[in-house]
Amino acid sequence: MATDDSQMTTAAHSPGGGDASRPWTELASDYEQARSREDSLDRLVEWPAQRDMLGDVTGLSLLDAGCGNGAKIAQLVQDGAVASVGVDISDNFVTEAPPGLELIQGDLSDLAAVQGLAGRSFDRILFLQSFGYANDPVHALKTARAMLKDDGFVLLTRTQPIRYAIERAEENGTTLGEEYFSTSSFSYRHRNWNEGVTLTKRPYTMSDLLNIFSAAGMWVETTVEPQMSREIGERYPHKQAVLNRYLGILMFKLRPLPVRF
Ligand SMILES: C[S@@+](CC[C@H](N)C(=O)[O-])C[C@H]1O[C@@H](n2cnc3c(N)ncnc32)[C@H](O)[C@@H]1O
Repeated sequence: MATDDSQMTTAAHSPGGGDASRPWTELASDYEQARSREDSLDRLVEWPAQRDMLGDVTGLSLLDAGCGNGAKIAQLVQDGAVASVGVDISDNFVTEAPPGLELIQGDLSDLAAVQGLAGRSFDRILFLQSFGYANDPVHALKTARAMLKDDGFVLLTRTQPIRYAIERAEENGTTLGEEYFSTSSFSYRHRNWNEGVTLTKRPYTMSDLLNIFSAAGMWVETTVEPQMSREIGERYPHKQAVLNRYLGILMFKLRPLPVRF
């Protein structure tokens, strides 16, 4: 899960596009193991907040882009969602998907091109900690926008960019501003997932995110920066300390602008 402890490595250059997806074939099962821990920030903070933002899903069709093993979309189908799909590049899916759920290996960079998705539309499209892997984020979001049904929305979550800037500043002995506004890609290893796998990440600022949403023809209806309740923070002080230091994630409910894109 994205807001847990991590370990940085030295900066490196990536060949452009989004964060590199390839390491996920190796990382997928380590990630799911870390996510399922009782004290993972995904269980304590992120998934409850994501679930809350989705509200009642009864009778709604959902597309979860970068769904991991599909456990979240499977839960949503058990909660009443119908005709739903999870897509992930890693093909590390739960073995038994409930009726009404398809899990498909594919690239979220162009959802309309994923086998079986051409011409389909959904009430909700989710990018939960996966949007950074799109080759061209504006294209990926425009494509998702075109696949929304009337009154549909996109739920998109990303790690607070300040978190990576703090970590890089600590690692490199630089300042928050230097790292926040840096445009060089950097390498990143996650201590709680698998220290042997290096992810390449492209830095982004808040303006980058907001400008991507506008360029894709979406407006922000709601933004949430989920935190722990006092009670949970007292029960898991080591996780409260992570949030105190690195802030957590940003969650956006995005609606299509009422113009043609
Ligand atoms: C941080 S995990 C988040 C998983 C899940 N959405 C969640 O909230 O627990 C990122 C996921 O994105 C997937 N991913 C990375 N690049 C992708 C791509 N190009 N297309 C589809 N999925 C991708 C990874 O395999 C991984 O499952």
